[in-house]
This record gives sequence, structure tokens and C-alpha cells, in this order.
Amino acid sequence: MSFSELGLMPELLKAVAEAGYTEPTPIQAQAIPIVLAGKDVMGGAQTGTGKTAGFTLPMLQRLARHANASPSPARHPVRALILTPTRELAMQVHQSVLTYGKHLQLRSVVIYGGVDMRAQIEELRLGREIVVATPGRLLDHVEQRTVNFGAVEVLVLDEADRMLDMGFIPDVKRILALLPRERQSLLFSATFSEEIRKLADSMLRNPQLIEVARRNAAAETVTHLVHPVSQELKRQLLAHLIRSQDLRQALVFVATKFGASRLAHYLVRQGIEADAIHGDKSQQQRTEALAAFKSGKVPILVATDVAARGLDIEDLPYVINFELPHTPEDYIHRIGRTGRAGKEGKAISLVCAEERARLADIEKLLKRPVEQETVAGFEPGAEFQGPIESRKRARAGRRDAATMPQPRGTKPGREPRRGPPAGAVRSVPSRPAAVSGFDWRKPYEPSPESFVEPALPSPPRPHKPQRQIAALLGGLAKKVE
Ligand SMILES: Nc1ncnc2c1ncn2[C@@H]1O[C@H](COP(=O)(O)OP(=O)(O)OP(=O)(O)O)[C@@H](O)[C@H]1O
Ligand SMILES: [Mg+2]
Repeated sequence: MSFSELGLMPELLKAVAEAGYTEPTPIQAQAIPIVLAGKDVMGGAQTGTGKTAGFTLPMLQRLARHANASPSPARHPVRALILTPTRELAMQVHQSVLTYGKHLQLRSVVIYGGVDMRAQIEELRLGREIVVATPGRLLDHVEQRTVNFGAVEVLVLDEADRMLDMGFIPDVKRILALLPRERQSLLFSATFSEEIRKLADSMLRNPQLIEVARRNAAAETVTHLVHPVSQELKRQLLAHLIRSQDLRQALVFVATKFGASRLAHYLVRQGIEADAIHGDKSQQQRTEALAAFKSGKVPILVATDVAARGLDIEDLPYVINFELPHTPEDYIHRIGRTGRAGKEGKAISLVCAEERARLADIEKLLKRPVEQETVAGFEPGAEFQGPIESRKRARAGRRDAATMPQPRGTKPGREPRRGPPAGAVRSVPSRPAAVSGFDWRKPYEPSPESFVEPALPSPPRPHKPQRQIAALLGGLAKKVE
């Protein structure tokens, strides 16, 4: 299958070739013709499998008839709106719009909070066909009447399930109410819970559901490992893993903004270069921290879930969950920052006894157990073996969190507007090996080679892994509905 067989125009084929893409990924192969045909789409495919081009390329083609070089703002009304949950993702998706649309005379702008509005107002005033935005700042423009949606033909919700959950839905609904009814709507994400799927379904017109793998499947190129550990030893274990495995680029997820800053400071005190990214930082600090991490200048970035969705950090070899997320879907997104575009990645989770209920929920969503390995000197204590008592409570808590209305600005994942004990771990290479001969046509078929543990000297494991990886992730590519 080639991009030209999908019916894309020469300007887009040229841009795709220049981006180095030789063939479409499964979600692209399935979504592009359907979007070109003007249909509404709910598209699900694993993290890092090219959903962005899956909606951006056909969207650009549908807008191409409006391309013009007129200096008149009236000739460049907003025709397409792409909403994302975070500023960093908005910037990244906008970059993709620029990359794929570089041979078309369509104008675009990215709108997000935390920066001066004036430059955005000026761009909107000059006329922009494509607006990539986070909802909060976009609504600020609505209030100031600096944006008009009267000519919108296409709406995209990237990370759609996140955009439609309790945190974002009020803002998204307000925006939707301002768009013309006659429009094409495209919803994409790596995860869709049943609840969100139904909600989304009701918003779309006769939608085509495209799912290239089992729903909510994690990327198959990621190996998962859990280190059971007591809460008190987590920090030391993290420092130990970074040093002993020579981790040169790892994204470390924590639960809170405060926790992120604190952990980054701890690592720096230990002589490990680290920075933090979260919603209490200025946008400039956030942008700089991400850029330094992406370029390899800062090896460890401690992040809240603000970095969990959509971010494409080239060849990121490691994701570490310092704490497990409250919802298993977030685990899939977090670990999906590694193992992208056919590369291998490793997801390591430090799990204490209190988090075992969350781990069980994650394993249930993954439909497989995750291998556990205790690191000598960092044993979790006897309570790790006991019954998982808090499970029901943890679940109930999660439901509460999902149903409790949250004040604007405190949404999870949406940023407010305003010298270790001697342990023994296997050493693993600090960069992922590209999965040679990776076949985009079948990236979802289990490929045993990708999961072989590196053949490096491995000291005896202090505890036998309690659970072996029973099966590889995911299933064969299939269209579910
Ligand atoms: N056809 C292709 N061939 C090669 N690389 C591709 C292709 N399509 C996309 N990519 C690359 O794959 C990477 C992941 O793409 P993208 O960010 O769109 O994934 P995604 O499916 O949106 O993931 P997530 O669920 O994490 O948002 C990007 O670096 C992109 O440039
Ligand atoms: Mg994406």
C-alpha cells in the first residue's frame, strides 16, 4: 500500500515523501480514504502509530480547494479546528499541519494559554484556515470576539476521550455549540472507554469507527516491567536505576505538580541532571524543559500527566512510572511516549503495596500480567504479598474522581490557566534499537524478537518474577465495527 493509492493529492504526497514516510500506517490506510470521503470518524490506534497524519492529511486535502494567496483576511476564514488537551500537544500537532501542508497555500495558527494573547489575535485577524488550539485559551478568544467559527467545515478532537471526559467536556461543549452543524467531525485517540465512546457516538453523524487493533491496546513495541518497592525507597531506587542502567533519556511520570518538582530536585541533589514539566511552571519553562529533554541535553524529565498524551519524543527509550496513574488508560498513554513509529521502548513502573489495585486495573486493560522483578536492596516489604484490600475502594475513588466536577484550571492533564544501597539489576542498552525490517503494514502482529530481553549478563533475580509475561500485547489488525 502506498500513500498515492489512498487518493492523496500530489502536494501532500510530496510533503509525506519529504517527511521520509514510505508507506501509510494501518490507521492512515484506513482513515485517510474515509475522511477524504467527508465522513465523520472515530479512530482508535495505538500510541505512536501516526494518527496525526491520519487526520491531518485528508483534512488538508479537503481544505485545499480553499487555498489562495489573497492578502484579504476575508478570504481566509477558519475552516478547520483541531483541539488538543495540552499546549505542548497543540504546538506539536500544529507543527505536523505545517509539515504536511507545506506545499498548499493554507494558513494555520496555534492558540494556547500561558502566553500573551496579542500575537494570536493578530494572526487570527489576518485570517487563518486552520486553528490548532487548547480549549481554554480558544474560549478566551471567543469571549473577546477575536475568532469566528462561522465557516468551520472540519472539527478534530485529538486525544478525543480526554477531551470528552469530565475535565474538558464543558469547554469543548461550549466550543461545539459555536460551530456550524453541517461539518465533519473527527475523533482520534489510542483509548476509548465504553462511556466516552457512547458520548462521542452521539456527537457524530453516522460515524465510521476505525480501530486497527483491539480497543485500548498498548503499543506492541513497548516492554513492560514492574519493580515492586516500598514507597520510602522509591526515590533511591529511581536514582539507582538511572545510574546502574545508564539511562540517558527517561521520562518519569509522577502524580502531582509538587511531587514532580520535588523529585527533580532530589535527582539533581544526587548528581543526576533532571528537570520537571508541569502546570505550575511558566509556559516558557515548560517549553524549554521539553526542548532540552528532546534534544538530549537534559536526560531525565519528571512530568505530570501533562506530558502523558500525544507527545512525540523521537526515539525516547524509557518511560518510568514513579507512581502508577489512577486510570489504566493513562498508563497506556504514558508508556506510549516510548516505542513509537516502530521503535522499541521500555516502560518501567515502581509499584508499592498501596498501588497494587491500580496495577491490577492496568493488567486488566492490557489483558495480560506485567512482569515483576524485585531489585536487591529495594525489596517492597511483606505487605506487598498480602491481599489487595484497597481495590474496591480504589475503584470507587476513581469513579468519584471521574464524576466530580472539577473547577476550571484544575483538570488532570490540563494545565491551569493561570548514594543508593547496592542493588542488582540487569543493565540494558540506553537507546532503543530500531526494530529492523519493521513492517508498517502489520505493526500490530506480535513480533517475538521485539520482546526478547537483551542478552546481557543478568545477575540472579532476588525473587522469581511473580508473573511471567503470558502473551504479547494486542491482536491482529482488524476493523472492529
Ligand atoms: N507513515 C509513516 N511512516 C513513518 N513514520 C510515520 C508515519 N506516520 C507517522 N510517522 C511518525 O510516527 C510518529 C508517531 O506519530 P503520531 O504522533 O501521529 O502518533 P499517534 O498515533 O498520534 O500517537 P499518540 O497516541 O501517542 O498520540 C511520528 O514521529 C511520525 O512522524
Ligand atoms: Mg497523537
